[in-house]
Amino acid sequence: MTILLKRKLHSLFTKFNVSKVKRCSSTLILGIETSCDDTGCAIINSDGKLLAEKCQSQNLVHLRNGGIIPDIAQDLHRTYIEPTVKCTLAEANLKMDDLTAVAVTLEPGLPLSLTVGMKYAKYLCRKFNKPLIPIHHMEAHALVARMNNEIEFPFLTLLISGGHCLLAVAKDVNQFSLLGQSIDFAPGELFDKVARRMKLRNIPEYSEMSGGRAVEEAALKAENPHQFLFMLPLADFKDCNFSFNGLKSSVLYHTLKKEKEHAIAADQLIPEVYDLCAAALMAVTRHLLHRTQRAMEFCEESGLIGKDRRQLVVSGGVACNNLIFKALTVLCNEYGYKIYRPPPKLCTDNGVMIAWNGLEKWRKNIDVFHDFSKLDIKATSPLGEDLSGKVSKAQMKIKLIKVKFQN
Ligand code: KG4
Ligand code: ZN
Repeated sequence: MTILLKRKLHSLFTKFNVSKVKRCSSTLILGIETSCDDTGCAIINSDGKLLAEKCQSQNLVHLRNGGIIPDIAQDLHRTYIEPTVKCTLAEANLKMDDLTAVAVTLEPGLPLSLTVGMKYAKYLCRKFNKPLIPIHHMEAHALVARMNNEIEFPFLTLLISGGHCLLAVAKDVNQFSLLGQSIDFAPGELFDKVARRMKLRNIPEYSEMSGGRAVEEAALKAENPHQFLFMLPLADFKDCNFSFNGLKSSVLYHTLKKEKEHAIAADQLIPEVYDLCAAALMAVTRHLLHRTQRAMEFCEESGLIGKDRRQLVVSGGVACNNLIFKALTVLCNEYGYKIYRPPPKLCTDNGVMIAWNGLEKWRKNIDVFHDFSKLDIKATSPLGEDLSGKVSKAQMKIKLIKVKFQN
């Protein structure tokens, strides 16, 4: 009995010591994301293993308000930041003292939202004497794909969200070359606006979905989407930029026209709503596809991406869209690219991508600030070196790939 008890005690003691040693020597990064309307937090260890994660979405509030109101977003971040971080620590069974560093999104994003994350991260770092790692939100969207996949640099990335639309080559953790970006707004914003105008929220099953998700679901019920035709944006511009303004206006125009035709009452939807959603989604997809195709051709011609590195990472909230992903997969097959997309939870805004980017920076000793007092937020922030002029100058003619859309 006594020997058994002694052994048990000994093994418990050894276990305790081992875990204690491990904990001290292991890197633990806390990530904080508040650039828009999600309060996200996560903890990752030195192996890139996710230990805990929390995300407090404001989606429902903003859906009710018909869009994001920055002051309201800030108030909600203020309310949720501390509980979200505390909950994440508790779930990982860790204390602030156990952590190695705090990574936080400082650019780009809504200033009022970014400020909440920055201030709280600085407060934590000061109080617990930890270094701070500033994170670029779009870099984090791209790099998070490396968390669960072996993706070597360089790789091509298409980042599509509610606030951004861009094509870039990721050359290293902190080195990006921008090939093109939206000249007006992002595809997520288009989906959110047209979903609202088409009153998709009045269909109960879509009432709590983001605009993009609602349009995707509604499009699955389409029967005759080809009754609506849309022009291909920027067709005459041989570059990798994007534009969604024309498409948005056309969708709104068709909605109004059909409403008049059918004498639609205030909260009713047009009978062709599913077809219009599908047509809009196909038009956005075609546009994304063609710009990505030109980016692939440019990368080949300029030697930016070698034959052994033909990889496309698609990320950001709009990357959750399966029709867009399928179309991009067809393109990748044609061009011999491997395609990667993080799981939906990591495509939309989240704390995990910030913690992961923090870890990647920590490993390479990039942007690890012990004196972070001068670090500040930036509402806009270009992604790396801008090569979009070069792309445009190359005036590359390409034979646009044809895609067949099937429900
Ligand atoms: O990356 P994200 O969470 O926030 C920004 O940084 O913008 O992206 C949010 C955007 C919203 O505009 C939302 O409508 C869109 O992603 N989105 C989708 C889908 N799910 C979310 N768009 C198309 N299809 C989806 N399934
Ligand atoms: Zn985002």
